[in-house]
Amino acid sequence: MSFSNGGHHGLPRVLAGLEPGGDAVSLAAHTRVHGPLPQVPAHQLIEEVELSGLRGRGGADFPTARKLRAVAGRRRVGPVIVNGSETEPASAKDRLLLSRLPHLVLDGAVLAAGAVGSRQVIVKVGENAVDAVAALEAAIAARERDPVSVEVVAAPEGYVAGEESAVVHYLNGGAQLPTFIPPRPFERGYRGRPTLIQNPETLAQLALVARFGSSWYRELGTVADPGSALVTITGAVRAPGVYELAFGTAMGDLLAAAGGPSEPLQALLVGGYFGTWMEASRATSLRLAREDLRSVGCTLGSGVLIALGESSCGLHESARVIAYLAGQSAGQCGPCVYGLRAIADAVGAFADGVAHASERDRVLRWTSEVRGRGACHHPDGAVRFVESALAVFDDDIDGHRRGRCNAVPAGLPLGGPAVAGGRLR
Ligand SMILES: Cc1cc2nc3c(=O)[nH]c(=O)nc-3n(C[C@H](O)[C@H](O)[C@H](O)COP(=O)(O)O)c2cc1C
Ligand code: SF4
Repeated sequence: MSFSNGGHHGLPRVLAGLEPGGDAVSLAAHTRVHGPLPQVPAHQLIEEVELSGLRGRGGADFPTARKLRAVAGRRRVGPVIVNGSETEPASAKDRLLLSRLPHLVLDGAVLAAGAVGSRQVIVKVGENAVDAVAALEAAIAARERDPVSVEVVAAPEGYVAGEESAVVHYLNGGAQLPTFIPPRPFERGYRGRPTLIQNPETLAQLALVARFGSSWYRELGTVADPGSALVTITGAVRAPGVYELAFGTAMGDLLAAAGGPSEPLQALLVGGYFGTWMEASRATSLRLAREDLRSVGCTLGSGVLIALGESSCGLHESARVIAYLAGQSAGQCGPCVYGLRAIADAVGAFADGVAHASERDRVLRWTSEVRGRGACHHPDGAVRFVESALAVFDDDIDGHRRGRCNAVPAGLPLGGPAVAGGRLR
């Protein structure tokens, strides 16, 4: 099979066809922009996804073709689960996709189902995402020709509610808590069957690879990081929102896409609350590329970039976030429950100016003791965040002891969507 050469050259790709205003793109409009759902043989789709280099956009950055193959090779395959939980409070990309471009995500899910031999798709969203549920239900009703059944499930919100084993456990009738792995969902997931679970953006990108092929996909980005990514850019920028940008874009251009900084910046939080703080001066030389981010200990996570202005306090903001993350522990693993609480209290004490800088080493010992000790990666992400906060805002600890903080709250979002609607490109 040859691929259509009707793909958009340049940007936007995933967000092509998105109109200003709040309405979801109809099936007719979606088909006008991207063409009809292609028929691609399973093995060819997986091969093409592999050639494209597409990796998961839910935070774990796992190669999508490897996951497709892992499920496709098994018997009695379960549903494809679209993980639309978007539990990262600062992220808005998945909700934007599900509420405004539901057909692109559903195309990806239907194609992925065909590739792994599944006849069912379940889209799981948080119960606050009422706009996404409405858009998905209308989209499903319009898609009479889908060869698979598609349903939407809205589940309670919570940071760990988006972890894949928690999603599967909930859909199996249990509590929405991570389960001890292995087995992983691709081995034994929904009703004990091998289950593919993917982020909505991953599936939207897959829907484009299936139409236009891997060479088209690689027209943007770098060799190691091909294609585009949806990045939620928020904090001290003039136009916070969701932007589609090519991998390889310089950090300064990312900020410029969001209108540029609204004040001089002191730091950037890359990757959301499982991400890493870095000094703004260091960040300018970096690109949106795994190798660049890895060189300074960062990952893109679920595609969140938060700019912290000089008028705000990184210690206070970090204390709020780690207190939130500690409160979001699913309460199952001792090191996560007690360790994160103790770490959060200590960071709170630094921010309140009641802890001496020498306490820092003790907190860093705790973070190393907590890492890798949970059933899921919640504590790992949380301690990565804290370690970077203590490195970047180190000097502030003494300043706070001497009572020198009169920063204005930056109000890093905690729970609920942060960026209403998002900008469109
Ligand atoms: C605490 C925690 C929360 C997570 N929340 C989400 C989420 O809201 N959405 C999501 O797609 N992935 C989330 N993930 C990652 C999923 O476990 C899983 O890797 C992802 O859905 C797989 O899709 P992908 O390969 O397309 O990225 C979370 C992981 C952890 C450890
Ligand atoms: S590590 Fe924490 S969030 Fe993950 S399952 Fe254990 S208690 Fe729950």
